[in-house]
Amino acid sequence: MAIKHYLQFSDFSLDEYQYVMERASIIKRKFKDYKPYHPLADRTLVMVFEKNSTRTRLSFEAGMHQLGGAAIYLNTRDSQLGRGEPIEDAAQVISRMCDVIMIRTFGQEIIERFASSSRVPVINGLTNEQHPCQVLADIFTFIEHRGSIAGKIVAWVGDANNMLYSWLQAAAVFGFHINVSTPAGYDIDPTQVSAEGASRYTFFAHPADACHDADLVTTDVWTSMGYEEEKNARLKAFDGWIVDAEKMRRAKSDALFMHCLPAHRGEEVSADVIDGPQSVVWDEAENRLHVQKALLEYLVLGKIS
Ligand code: CP
Ligand code: NVA
Repeated sequence: MAIKHYLQFSDFSLDEYQYVMERASIIKRKFKDYKPYHPLADRTLVMVFEKNSTRTRLSFEAGMHQLGGAAIYLNTRDSQLGRGEPIEDAAQVISRMCDVIMIRTFGQEIIERFASSSRVPVINGLTNEQHPCQVLADIFTFIEHRGSIAGKIVAWVGDANNMLYSWLQAAAVFGFHINVSTPAGYDIDPTQVSAEGASRYTFFAHPADACHDADLVTTDVWTSMGYEEEKNARLKAFDGWIVDAEKMRRAKSDALFMHCLPAHRGEEVSADVIDGPQSVVWDEAENRLHVQKALLEYLVLGKIS
């Protein structure tokens, strides 16, 4: 049987997402009720990090533990991965010793090469081009607060980065629209967007216009990991792209605000918005745990109900 990987958001169908989200709700309920649930007893997750992380590491490691399994953390600083061992060799070896692998790395092609040599499912824990687990948590959070996301308007204000590309894939799967505003020179790379994704967004030169009538306003850091040397140029180019109360007023009165975190108050978002009543960033962060537990269960055991 072909191994199922989760390398980008478009890897799952709507039907699979509906299943995983139903499981996430059930698994979340068990967690809140302190009910032990150990479907992955004796299973091992290996987590490979080539970039820093707080939420991704914690949610996968705690999640695997809560499912009855074990999680092992590897990083490129103190493993042979940082010393030039071919990625295909690493995949062969790691995948013979565990049941599922999560990787955070640079180019998407690295995770694709890794997955093609892996004997077990591989999950994308963030690449330069995609962050599907975060968008899965974001959509789960939206649905918890507001119901179906189909037909809704999501405003993306900021950089055309991994989060935006995963949101564009999600718009095609779930049938919603994205209003995108990025500063000149930091716009969407059309080679990263499918024809379906391209039909799911509208570009706005002015960030406030992108927020008009939105059901959800979301943003992310202006300088993603791996682009640190561009930080000063980006600070200048993104001037005016802060999500503040004025931009939130252009959205629907019950619009939510999301940010995958870590956030920089006073840069991409003002403190009154991220700490204000429309912000659901803490639910969004917590839901990483619940959706990824459902994802691990699905990839390792398949559909169980
Ligand atoms: N949002 C997110 O992926 O956070 P970390 O970088 O802390 O994992
Ligand atoms: N776009 C950000 C997300 C961090 C979770 C980055 O890639 O650094």
